[in-house]
Amino acid sequence: MGAPDFMATRMAAEATQATSSNATPAAAAPLLRFDEVSIRLGGREILSPTSFEVRRGEFVCIVGASGCGKTTLLRTASALVTPTAGRVLRHGVPITQPAREIAFVFQDYGRALLPWRTVEGNVRLALEAARVPTAEHAARAAEVLAKVGLAAHANKFPLQLSGGMQQRVQIARCLAQRPELMLMDEPFGALDAMTRQGLQDELARLVRDDGLTVIFVTHDLEEAIYLGDRVVALQANPGPGRPSLARMIDVPIPRPRDQLSTREHPEFVRLRRELFTFIEEGHG
Ligand SMILES: Nc1ncnc2c1ncn2[C@@H]1O[C@H](COP(=O)(O)OP(=O)(O)OP(=O)(O)O)[C@@H](O)[C@H]1O
Ligand SMILES: [Mg+2]
Repeated sequence: MGAPDFMATRMAAEATQATSSNATPAAAAPLLRFDEVSIRLGGREILSPTSFEVRRGEFVCIVGASGCGKTTLLRTASALVTPTAGRVLRHGVPITQPAREIAFVFQDYGRALLPWRTVEGNVRLALEAARVPTAEHAARAAEVLAKVGLAAHANKFPLQLSGGMQQRVQIARCLAQRPELMLMDEPFGALDAMTRQGLQDELARLVRDDGLTVIFVTHDLEEAIYLGDRVVALQANPGPGRPSLARMIDVPIPRPRDQLSTREHPEFVRLRRELFTFIEEGHG
């Protein structure tokens, strides 16, 4: 099971990076670095200068109240929004346009999938866009559908699937792109609690098995702590007319995590309180 060639590619890349980490600045640089990024949109300051790094294999969550700038920050990571000041660097190089190595998973899976294409057809979209030779499509689609547990549903249409399954199709389509970074904008926000927890665990497993790097936006503090190695918390309205303020919080909770015991872990409870207090200060 799994993805032998995907993993082999990643492991080879990691090995190369490890052995040549002193050779070039790019090899030593984090996958992504936000360097004093501030954002102004529609004549309004959205985000105070913010710096943080995302290293290869890390799971970084962005959390905050509605309208605080989570989606905007995620969009700057893929050059869909240009910072007003500061820079976003990928492997040490400023990003200027969207790259195929960065995949985006949207909350609204209903609109992200083409209803007239089968599950496999939707996954093939990513392969067509990446100009992967047609002869490889079937095997690569099968590989990613197996990873998200949808091998038996390849020939169904999206509307024949539950919401959770449709979101797994979208994740499979992103995996087919073999991205080095997955940007996820409230991907489980529209799902019921049980489905959501199942997908959280599936995603955590995929990330661990494939060495994926993820930036994950959510407004759910517990989801951010449960999934993240680090959380970027955004506080809206830290003062009258002031843009959102970011704080970085490490999540030193061991993996694999568990829906029951992790959520009762003293560190989990402490972090939830810390995040809640920080985010709520903006409303006080
Ligand atoms: N293109 C734009 N032009 C002007 N203002 C914008 C633009 N995009 C976003 N904004 C504003 O920037 C702020 C942050 O928006 P953003 O969508 O990033 O918030 P969010 O934290 O993702 O919210 P939600 O949780 O509701 O998705 C909002 O006040 C929004 O109205
Ligand atoms: Mg948003």
